[in-house]
Amino acid sequence: MSKPFSIKVLRYDSQLDNDRPHYEEYSVDYYEGMRIWHAIDDVNLKHGANIASRLSCREFLCGICTIMANGKPTLACKAPVENGMVLEPLPYFPVTRDLVVDRDIAERRFQELRPWLSRDDDISQIEMKASQSEVLPAREMSQCLGCLACLVACPVIKEGWETFAGPMYQVHLAKSAFNPLDTAKRVAEAAQYGLFNCTQCGACTDVCPKGINIQEKAIRQLRTLFLREEEIPKPVKEVKENTKRKSNPFGKEGKWHWAEGLNLPKSGDTVFFAGCLSSFESGDTLKKAVALLRKIGIEVACYAEDEPCCGSPVLNMGDEDGFRENAQDVARRFRARGAKTVITGCAECYRVFTLDYPKYLAGIEMPEVKHISQVIAESKDKLGVISRKMPETRITYHDPCRLGRDCGLYQAPRDVIGAVSGIELHEMAKTRADSFCCGAGGGVKLINNDLAIALGKERIRQARETGSSVLVSACPWCEQNLRDSVREGDDIRIMDIVDLIAENL
Ligand code: SF4
Ligand code: SF4
Ligand code: FES
Repeated sequence: MSKPFSIKVLRYDSQLDNDRPHYEEYSVDYYEGMRIWHAIDDVNLKHGANIASRLSCREFLCGICTIMANGKPTLACKAPVENGMVLEPLPYFPVTRDLVVDRDIAERRFQELRPWLSRDDDISQIEMKASQSEVLPAREMSQCLGCLACLVACPVIKEGWETFAGPMYQVHLAKSAFNPLDTAKRVAEAAQYGLFNCTQCGACTDVCPKGINIQEKAIRQLRTLFLREEEIPKPVKEVKENTKRKSNPFGKEGKWHWAEGLNLPKSGDTVFFAGCLSSFESGDTLKKAVALLRKIGIEVACYAEDEPCCGSPVLNMGDEDGFRENAQDVARRFRARGAKTVITGCAECYRVFTLDYPKYLAGIEMPEVKHISQVIAESKDKLGVISRKMPETRITYHDPCRLGRDCGLYQAPRDVIGAVSGIELHEMAKTRADSFCCGAGGGVKLINNDLAIALGKERIRQARETGSSVLVSACPWCEQNLRDSVREGDDIRIMDIVDLIAENL
């Protein structure tokens, strides 16, 4: 006998006076390979449920069938159905009936943006010619189905479409901007629609059914074009100049002060890369990290006053040329000082070293790079039994976008937390690949702190929902922004993963 299989659907009919959104559960005659729309069809046909949903091509081509499945935007004709799956209509749009929303507001914005070929001359008089390589980037963007999945997954959209038109529209603006035949001012338009408010969190890329790398190939590329073609906004210019002249995006002095008195050598096989933000804001955490590594048996070198910026902030802003130049300098310093392994506690540094340096420094060798959570997880036995000493027992963990979605590093930080006996990890509803951005990424903390804080407050709210009184992260940018976002009277402590271990050792 087959096992019972069911789905839950949020039902509502806007035409009925007294109807309220409510969940109904239905049994499904499941078979291998069943898609969500098959399940809805099955329930409608066999049980007369009359659930309203949209469907057209059934082949992932029209983008009309997007719904929320277990809280994630999904094409109902593409995604396999799962037992117990909760199906809901897309958020932010008025619900017409059940899983059908009124997309009018999205269509109107399309019209506003005119994502079709636009020229400032008489189109009938010109010879339309562009090479394959010229149109390739635009072609990738033109795969967009207009399915709205990226739009509803974007954390910035939660703050309103006024601050950021959203990833779907940026993809369409990118399509036109990358098209050599389009002469409209698309890049300036993208900036007007909030191009620099994207936190580069990657939630859009994660849900895109066409696999478009929205954060990098649409948004970051639009930023790169913006810096080349338009007047650079003052905060972006400052980050660029500070990184070049002061080796940190803030333009501060004394980045190495945290390491004074530690007697760390300035060269060696294993280098501890402190990162700019930690160096200025979390000196104590860095000291604890070095002490932890020593306890594990790893002696590290530190470049102190010679530590450059990893270049992540300038890359986030779209300054590819500045990033490449900086990366060449960083790689040269690692080579000159014989670094074989680099350990960092910063998720931004970890991401650029592991993902972006190989792309921008083709052929230049880099040392192996590890996040400190990986090192602690691998060697936690050397730290002996770690029992809870902190007063709190219930904690939750925030996956930094850079570590999680970008690099797939989910388990090591959880293994580190699991090494402390007597504390319980309670996951947030949005966790791992579905994690909600803390708000600091993509340069937003540096150029639009109000937006960063608004997103941070939402993440704190999600953390509070778990009943935890400690929120742990593994990135100084997340930690700083979450700390800045804690409201007065909010009873939650923000901690770095290194501080968590150090406090309980
Ligand atoms: S990267 Fe994140 S913030 Fe940027 S558009 Fe995508 S989902 Fe929105
Ligand atoms: S970019 Fe991808 S997720 Fe966004 S609307 Fe287009 S197809 Fe859908
Ligand atoms: S019905 Fe066309 S994409 Fe799903």
